[in-house]
Amino acid sequence: MSNILSDEALDQLFREARTHNAWLDKPVTDDILRQIYDVMKWGPTSANGSPARFVFLRSPQSKQRLRPLLAPGNVEKTMAAPVTVIIAYDLLFFEKLPKLFPHAPAMRDYFAQNPQLVEATAKRNSSLQGAYLMMAARALGLDCGPMSGFDNAKLDEEFFSAGKECEGCDQEFFPAGHVRSNFLCNLGYGDRSNLSPRNPRLEFDEACSLL
Ligand SMILES: Cc1cc2nc3c(=O)[nH]c(=O)nc-3n(C[C@H](O)[C@H](O)[C@H](O)COP(=O)(O)O)c2cc1C
Repeated sequence: MSNILSDEALDQLFREARTHNAWLDKPVTDDILRQIYDVMKWGPTSANGSPARFVFLRSPQSKQRLRPLLAPGNVEKTMAAPVTVIIAYDLLFFEKLPKLFPHAPAMRDYFAQNPQLVEATAKRNSSLQGAYLMMAARALGLDCGPMSGFDNAKLDEEFFSAGKECEGCDQEFFPAGHVRSNFLCNLGYGDRSNLSPRNPRLEFDEACSLL
């Protein structure tokens, strides 16, 4: 039986946590990025497949590669953010199932023979993993600014060599043409003085039914 988290913790994770567009001048270290990953990786995924791949853009050069791919309203805040994460998914995620799901060796072949299942599973679970990443970042004291306003196809060409050989791929785990972007998330320490009033959420009776 787990303990119930304190009100303070629930505020930090959900009730007081906001989507941020402006950032304090406080750096985000590579060490905290590793800590975020080492917490979020424990979130559950289908068959433990863990299809999400994360590219942390911290250098000005990597941000400039992203700039032309962004919707106009997302450019300035993304350029100003200490880190922007590309949350992506690997369509060959099933090749890692022998490590991740060793007690059911048939799973790898089951996915390998079902491209539609691979795509649906990769998208669903990378979205979940993106949410785990945001919650882990908040738990470790950072703020997030998720975004889907960008050109996915062009980003995949720029960062994942979609449609061509993997010339610029510096990571062997981004097989050419098999990694696709899902969404982006700015990370940093948010400037709360810049926030607009919060929009409401649906009440329980508007969003839930009890059967
Ligand atoms: C997957 C996703 C995509 C989003 N895309 C954008 C975007 O492209 N540009 C933007 O300004 N905000 C974007 N948002 C931010 C949402 O509008 C924001 O999270 C929502 O209004 C809740 O705001 P709050 O967390 O401050 O309450 C996105 C949020 C999510 C989760």
